[in-house]
Amino acid sequence: MDFGLTEEHLMIRDAARDFAKTELLPGVIERDTHQRFPTEQVKKMGALGFLGMMASPQYGGGGMDTISYVLVMEELSKIDASASVIVSVNNSLVCWGLDTYANEAQKEKYLTKLTTGESIGAFCLSEPEAGSDATSQKTTAIDKGDHYVLNGTKNWITNGNSADFYLVIAQTDKEKKHKGINAFIVEKGWDGFEVGVKEDKLGIRGSDTHSLIFNDVKVPKENRIGEDGFGFKFAMKTLSGGRIGIAAQALGIASGAYELARDYSKVRKAFGTEICNHQAIAFKLADMHTNIAAARHLVMQSAWDKDQGRNYDMSGAMAKLFASQTAMDTTIEAVQVFGGNGYVKEYHVERLMRDAKITQIYEGTSEIQKIVISRGLLRD
Ligand code: CAA
Repeated sequence: MDFGLTEEHLMIRDAARDFAKTELLPGVIERDTHQRFPTEQVKKMGALGFLGMMASPQYGGGGMDTISYVLVMEELSKIDASASVIVSVNNSLVCWGLDTYANEAQKEKYLTKLTTGESIGAFCLSEPEAGSDATSQKTTAIDKGDHYVLNGTKNWITNGNSADFYLVIAQTDKEKKHKGINAFIVEKGWDGFEVGVKEDKLGIRGSDTHSLIFNDVKVPKENRIGEDGFGFKFAMKTLSGGRIGIAAQALGIASGAYELARDYSKVRKAFGTEICNHQAIAFKLADMHTNIAAARHLVMQSAWDKDQGRNYDMSGAMAKLFASQTAMDTTIEAVQVFGGNGYVKEYHVERLMRDAKITQIYEGTSEIQKIVISRGLLRD
């Protein structure tokens, strides 16, 4: 394995780093406080090509590898994890899912708009009673010949209100269990489709998370993705890649908090010297740095596996499990390094600590990652 970054990788990483500092940083506290979606910033990220990085160029995508994508995710997440989850869902779940499994007409109609940022996408699997247990879908799509009729509720949907197109997973034949599940492309504004309440969240408050309600929504048959019954595998395959993006997000949150703590410890004085000269602080920095290096290795391994066409279910789950724990541990310690200032918004680390927690929950909790890893181990 060779993770040696190319000139192109370094250029895209530097572009993301620059963008995060100049465009995301200035309003990040205000957006977090008021739960404001970064509309302008998302438009600019679309123009920079950050919203459809891995998708095929013929549909407006960047045709880039997963390594480029995780580098961008890390840089954006150091500053603003709300912005980076929008990027993550659009890239790994929506654009990748469509680029890989949609038919030509679907790609022409939807993917071309999603890769450029003209439209935003959402991925709708979770339900009030089907978060981790994804086969227990209660949302139904009943086959009516040339269309399906969709009924049900989805919960905790990232880009819930800001999206234009939604990939919705629903049960079409309960008897067949996971083989009776399908995935559909649903457009905002269709009769019977309603965006529900906005969640008031602990972290990633700049992203909009909503419930969605489907009441007899007529979905044309041509909007089903893949063969009849492909929906569960579609969701699992897509989420496997999504976990690499969230692992990179967690890595970015951890790196961002570490860099802030390191820099602060070099200027803040206590007991007659800069606090980095006290072992109590220096050892914290050493632990943070070591864990971040290990997390980065796992993230790069999983991205590399995907780029090489190797199976990445397990390496992606390992990366997400470890990087999200690292994000949690590192941000808690960063707040401690800042002391009283760490508890105050203007120093950023309290926000990163709140943002870190979601990386242990969405796209599969840490417990789900352990299921995926242990099943992979026992199968091999
Ligand atoms: N790739 C391809 N197929 C897969 C697969 C994968 N990664 N994982 C499972 N499958 C297939 C299996 O092979 C099996 O198919 P066959 O019957 O043909 O062999 C089928 O799917 C069922 O598999 P399991 O029996 O393993 O299914 P399970 O019910 O035991 O569930 C699970 C497995 C890993 C726990 C799964 O339910 C899961 O990942 N749950 C978590 C869901 C999740 O991540 N939700 C997050 C919501 S999305 C989100 O958060 C987005 C956002 O807004 C940020």
